[in-house]
Amino acid sequence: MKMMTLKLQVNGRPQQWTIAPGDVLLDVLRREGHFGVKRGCETGECGACTVLLNGKPVNTCLMFAAQAEGCEVVTIEGLAQGEKLDPLQEAFLDHGAVQCGFCTGGMILGAKALLDKQPNPSEEEVREALAGHFCRCTGFRKPVEAVLAAARKPKASEDIPEEAA
Ligand code: FES
Ligand code: FES
Repeated sequence: MKMMTLKLQVNGRPQQWTIAPGDVLLDVLRREGHFGVKRGCETGECGACTVLLNGKPVNTCLMFAAQAEGCEVVTIEGLAQGEKLDPLQEAFLDHGAVQCGFCTGGMILGAKALLDKQPNPSEEEVREALAGHFCRCTGFRKPVEAVLAAARKPKASEDIPEEAA
């Protein structure tokens, strides 16, 4: 079979992978060890396979890997800074929005894309951003609460210095 080289950044690291032209991005990411990208419906309906591609959430089950050439991909594994969880990850844990966890990575990345462009979303905007993510365990109330709480949390740059508090 004719193979090709795919060059892209994944979680801030340059990668160069050998792929077949028909390989699906979901399969390639998992083959390369990114198991936080989940295989759910494979028809673009559940959102479990979501990653950020150049900052936008995409369903990797619907994309050829070759379409990610030159792109920046963020998977759920790329969100924490070392030991420090992303505020969305913390909020999901604090609000009981994680149960089996199968949907969680995709849901958090969908929420991250929203907060990156709209840091103070309304509940309706959060619900809309999560609409493509199916969760069999929590319903949507807890994830919605978690995203709203993460949005309300002061950003690092807005932290009040101790001496001024
Ligand atoms: S596995 Fe891609 S949307 Fe369900
Ligand atoms: S936490 Fe189980 S599917 Fe969402």
